[in-house]
Amino acid sequence: MNTLRLLQSLLVIHLTGLTLMAGTDAVNFVAFKKLSNSLHEDQAAVKFYLKKLFGLSSLLPLGGILLISSGVGLLIITHTYGQLWFQLKMGVVVALISNGFLFGARQEQRIKQILNAPDSQANLQLRHPLGNLRIFYALQLTLYALAVILAVTKPG
Ligand code: HEM
Repeated sequence: MNTLRLLQSLLVIHLTGLTLMAGTDAVNFVAFKKLSNSLHEDQAAVKFYLKKLFGLSSLLPLGGILLISSGVGLLIITHTYGQLWFQLKMGVVVALISNGFLFGARQEQRIKQILNAPDSQANLQLRHPLGNLRIFYALQLTLYALAVILAVTKPG
């Protein structure tokens, strides 16, 4: 395989990983928004759909592995380490990961605790962490868009 074909293959894998990750976040953003608007409805149904939605997160590690491994391959071929756009993009990637672990994961944890507690007021307690999750997914989608803009326009 010549270098051009290898570069193209890595880019396809890179964009597949990106689609899996950003796609999952986009679906979650809309789904959690719809769920937090229906909290006054059937409590058992809300719990059922929340548990199903958390199952979607299993696509994220696969997307992450594809995105990062192909990114490292692209880096080795293109030698872009020192370029400003790449360094800014890595800053965005760090922000994505930190937001995931420090903000998103905590909201999920809180929601799971509420779902597992035998409390008839669960829907009221869910309002706050679900609102936070909407902010979290909106932030993640903005950061993905920023990384794409940096990678395509390559400022600096
Ligand atoms: C949120 C995460 C990421 C997004 C949205 C993203 C997006 C993109 C896009 C859209 C391209 C294609 C640019 C083009 O050909 O015009 C690209 C290329 C590239 N990406 Fe990423 N990427 C991400 C993470 C990473 C990571 C973690 C690495 C390195 C470990 C990386 C390294 C690269 C390299 C080296 C290129 C090729 C640049 C070139 O054409 O010279 N990316 N990325």
